[in-house]
Amino acid sequence: MCSIIDDIEIAADWLCKDEIVGIPTETVYGLAGNMFSEQAITKIFTVKQRPTFNPLIVHIAKGESLTRLAHSIPTQAYQLAEAFWPGPLTLVLPKNPTVMPLITAHKPTVAIRMPAHDLLQNLLNRLPFPLVAPSANPFTRISPTSARQVAQYFDGQIPAVLEGGNCEKGIESTIVGFDNGRTLVYRLGAIPVESLEKVVGKVTLLNPSKQAHQAQEGLIAPGMFYKHYAPTTTAIWVDNLQGFIEAHPHKRIGVLSFQETASMTGITQEVLSATGNFNEASHRLYAALDRLDKAQLDYIITTGVPDQQLGRSINDRLARAFQRQHP
Ligand code: TXA
Ligand code: MG
Repeated sequence: MCSIIDDIEIAADWLCKDEIVGIPTETVYGLAGNMFSEQAITKIFTVKQRPTFNPLIVHIAKGESLTRLAHSIPTQAYQLAEAFWPGPLTLVLPKNPTVMPLITAHKPTVAIRMPAHDLLQNLLNRLPFPLVAPSANPFTRISPTSARQVAQYFDGQIPAVLEGGNCEKGIESTIVGFDNGRTLVYRLGAIPVESLEKVVGKVTLLNPSKQAHQAQEGLIAPGMFYKHYAPTTTAIWVDNLQGFIEAHPHKRIGVLSFQETASMTGITQEVLSATGNFNEASHRLYAALDRLDKAQLDYIITTGVPDQQLGRSINDRLARAFQRQHP
């Protein structure tokens, strides 16, 4: 495993030398580099095996001005930043020339977020540059919520991961952009749609699977096309847990459920939140999926979670990780 470090000075040293480092955020761990270093950015794409047409998020320190990186910033962007920063909100805005095309995949916009994680904020404060960082998982794999998981993914490929504990939110940031006065949600995430709407009124959800014309308009976040966040075990979204288990008596089955426990012995189970709390469920989601993936099962099954508040974001990730059962 690559080294897990506590010292932000060491992380800062690596980053100043164009190296890339695993960093904690309140959502998931990131794979970070100097936003002004072509060498560091290239390493991020290589190590993550990420296609270069999928742009990166720029992470900024508290108090950093948006106008250094972006222009033509709409009022709703300021309202949302005021309400949710530092926090798990990413704003897509017209970019300034200081932002290299390599970061934005040659798009005219840049994605920016001010993370709410004390250790990461201390690191950003020490550095003379913001950090670009995708989630610290290899392309299409589950996003990591612990330093250990990052170290396992990138053993021998990165010098260090900064230990920042288990990520509080456990699910990626909500990505929001703007178009002619409309507020667009590019990716559901740790801030529920209902909370955005309290600040800016009605928002438009972009749905990559259902509305191909939005992709043609360039409105979809490129990363949202893929089967994503996927375990390597066959994962199936079923209508009925018990029914599937009874129909597959000789298979090793793992269940990922919201509150309920399946009443079958010999079944491996991960209950996301016994009390039915969405925050707890999203905090535990990826780690639970990862444990099931490592349990040598034939199938992982789920019925999803209630489709409201953070539950919508959780279901969005589950829908990318699980295939629907054909009746
Ligand atoms: O919570 C998070 O957002 C985490 C932590 C590490 O900050 N980061 C993260 O990054 O999830 P990543 O690279 O795994 O996902 C970023 C998403 C991608 O789907 C990408 O397509 C989209 O942001 N994105 C980046 N720049 C964009 C832009 N200019 N326009 C539209 N989408 C953009
Ligand atoms: Mg990602």
